[in-house]
Amino acid sequence: MPKSKIALGCDHGGYELKTYIEKYLAKNGFDYKDFGTFDRNSVDYPPIAKEVAKSVANGNYSKGILLCGTGLGMCITANKIPGIRAVTCHDTYSARMSRSHNDANILTMGGRVVGIDLALDIVDTWLRTEFEGGRHKRRVDMIEKP
Ligand code: RB5
Repeated sequence: MPKSKIALGCDHGGYELKTYIEKYLAKNGFDYKDFGTFDRNSVDYPPIAKEVAKSVANGNYSKGILLCGTGLGMCITANKIPGIRAVTCHDTYSARMSRSHNDANILTMGGRVVGIDLALDIVDTWLRTEFEGGRHKRRVDMIEKP
């Protein structure tokens, strides 16, 4: 399976978790770009979510990972960008299903919700699960239709 090109972003609530995810991506040979934020200072999450989501929607990156305190603000914002299917996952079953059935292209998590080891399992599951296509492709295609 060709490895995805990952766009990574966070606010202050997801900063620490992002440092662990970066280590995971580097260790596992994923090509990624860090869109910030780059320290623990308070920052607004919507501009970061939009930049990452646009870079996935325009095809520069195949997938995105966004981290904030809850994962929710990042998810809500990313889903405003056409072509983005962002999901908040705090368990591996949802992570797997969001790829195999929903072809999710952005994963969001909350650094204040999930522990580091579970978060890394979720990322690993999400990145390694392929979209099943078939009847799920038909359904995913319906999402963007008026
Ligand atoms: C910041 O305090 C927090 O609101 C943010 O990280 C995120 O959880 C928003 O959804």
